[in-house]
Order: sequence, then structure tokens, then C-alpha cells
Amino acid sequence: MKYQLFGKHTGLPVSQIILGAANFGARKGYGASAEEIPAILGTYADAGGNFIDISDRYQLGEAEEKVGEFIKSQRNNFVVCSKYTRSSESDPKPANLGNHRKSMQQAVDGSLRRLQTDYIDIYMPHYDDGLTPLEEIARGLEDLVKAGKVLYTGLANFPAWKASMVAQMVPLAALQIEYNLTQRTAERELLPMAGHLGIGTMFYSPLAGGLLTGKYRHGETGRLLRSRDDVVREDETTHGILNKLETIATETHSTSGQVALAWTFDRGGFPIIGARKINHLSEALNALELKLTDEHISELNVLSEISLGYPHDLLKTVQISY
Ligand SMILES: NC(=O)c1ccc[n+]([C@@H]2O[C@H](COP(=O)([O-])OP(=O)(O)OC[C@H]3O[C@@H](n4cnc5c(N)ncnc54)[C@H](OP(=O)(O)O)[C@@H]3O)[C@@H](O)[C@H]2O)c1
Repeated sequence: MKYQLFGKHTGLPVSQIILGAANFGARKGYGASAEEIPAILGTYADAGGNFIDISDRYQLGEAEEKVGEFIKSQRNNFVVCSKYTRSSESDPKPANLGNHRKSMQQAVDGSLRRLQTDYIDIYMPHYDDGLTPLEEIARGLEDLVKAGKVLYTGLANFPAWKASMVAQMVPLAALQIEYNLTQRTAERELLPMAGHLGIGTMFYSPLAGGLLTGKYRHGETGRLLRSRDDVVREDETTHGILNKLETIATETHSTSGQVALAWTFDRGGFPIIGARKINHLSEALNALELKLTDEHISELNVLSEISLGYPHDLLKTVQISY
């Protein structure tokens, strides 16, 4: 596993892939088994992985408990990113839901308790709640850093214009966004903003929740069949992408999922691997060895390309050159 500094404004060396913990537990009725969770974490750590992504919401707090049990004897070796907004409660009340200071304060203390630690490396709201003033979020995060509960701050699922405003009020180290071959809209605003501001980017759902493994077209089952049938259906675009992934996988003696992950390795961020089983993680780790050719990358880019829309499309036509 290689390490890179996280973003342009930290000296924090993180492994090139992040382990996502959303699948760790059973409180949501679907996740990795109790035996498999420490095995997944152990395999990741043995491979040199040091970056774990979690949220108080994942498995209603159980995921943080499982990660806490694993890291407590080696806390300083791991970079842990956690998130708040939606609470670990199954039926959160307004006072513990959202991005306001009271929710943030309660959530961070709950996460510290479940993770069995006295600090979280990177902390962020999980979503823009559309209500809390940005200054309240920025000042709240800043105070958590001053209190030593948090080392770095970030945002997940925020529009770029709001994220750039928060970045003017508090040093923002991390941005967490959905990014994969079927979801490239972050290229319009979020990725250029993160690049310009030097913010480390964490790509979640690099396999589009499992869709890009191609398993659903081969009759296999998985979590997308439980709730998001619309995501599983292939449309014209995803059909072409899945076909191309299969072709490249055959050529490179790999799997469609590995090719999809290798495409994200080339995109300048840190993909968060969502392993529910050991073999999911092993496949992702082996994908680090897969070298796609420029032609492979370009074919995938073309098939998954999105229209950037206004004003970007207009601006391409009016660029001034001297
Ligand atoms: N900030 C946010 O809002 C947000 C949102 C989503 C995720 N995240 C973070 O990103 C992490 C990853 O997200 P994700 O789970 O959506 O990632 P993903 O990589 O797109 O999907 C992971 C799923 O793909 C399937 N899969 C993986 N490897 C496979 C293989 N080799 N063969 C067959 N199926 C395979 C599994 O589905 P099955 O379980 O169905 O088998 C697994 O649960 C999460 O754990 C979380 O940390 C953040």
C-alpha cells in the first residue's frame, strides 16, 4: 500500500485506499457478520491500510463500536474520519438531528465513546441539512479542534458554493463525495473546487453500491436489491459502461469491479472501499496491482462522460488564448 499526504494543506500520510465501515454491523438488518468485521479490519491493516471512514449513523452506532474495539490497542496507527448529522438514534428528535451546534456536540461525544478514543482525526457533517447557518457549522467544527476532540475538519455531501464558503471560515482538510463511473457530476463544481483549494477528496461508492461489479446482470444478489431497485436497472449509459468493464476485465485477467476501482485510482482522490466480506476487500486490494492502459481509461471516460452544463459548456467555447 502506498501513502500520500491528504490534500495540499496537511502533512497527514494516508493509505491510498480508505476502508468504509458502513457495512459493519447488523442494526440496519444488513451488513458484515460479527466474525467477518475484525477479519476485514485486520486484513486491511495488514495490507498497510490506515484510513477508516465511519459515521455515527452507520448501523445506528454499531459500526463505530466495532471499529472502536479493533483500533483501541493501536489507536495512533489509524486515521479515523467520522460524520454526524442524522444521529445514531433510530428515532432522532430535532435537538439531536441536523448540523446545529447542539447536535454536533452530542454526536461527537457519542462517537468518541463508541470509538473508545479521545480524538477523531477528521470530522464532518454527513449532509448539508439546508437549515444550519454555515458559520455555525464552521465555528462549531473549529471549537471541536480547539477542544482537542477533532484534528481536521471536512464536509460530506455539500454543494460546492457552500463548501467554499465554509472553507473561508475554517481550514477544511476533507471533502467526501459520491464519485464513480456512473456518478461523475462532482466534476462540474466539487472536484475543481477541491483541487483549487487543495482539499483532500474521499470518493464514496466507487462501485456504485456494487452495480459496477456486474453481479446484478449475472443474477447475483446484494444490497441494491433491498431498497434501490432503480439503481440496479441498467440504462443505456450504464449498459455500455458495464459491457466495457467486462471487456477490459477479460483482457486484463481481472474483474469488472477491479477495473472500476482502478479507474477511480486514476482520479486524484482516495476511494472508500465498502467491503461487506473479506473477498470484497481482497479483490479491492488486488486491484491496486492492476494497471489500465491509457486506451482503457479513455474508453471508460468517453462512455461515462457527463455534460458539464452551463456555464462550463459555454466557457469552453469562449476561452481566450494569447
Ligand atoms: N458520505 C456519504 O454520504 C456516504 C454514502 C455512502 C457511502 N459512504 C462511505 O463509503 C463507503 C463505501 O460505500 P459503498 O458501500 O457504497 O461502496 P461501493 O464500493 O460502491 O459498494 C460496496 C458494495 O459493493 C458490493 N461489492 C464490493 N465488492 C464486491 C465484490 N468483489 N463482489 C461483489 N460485490 C461486491 C458489496 O455489495 P453487497 O453488500 O450488496 O454484496 C458492497 O457492500 C461506505 O462504507 C461509507 O464509509 C459515504
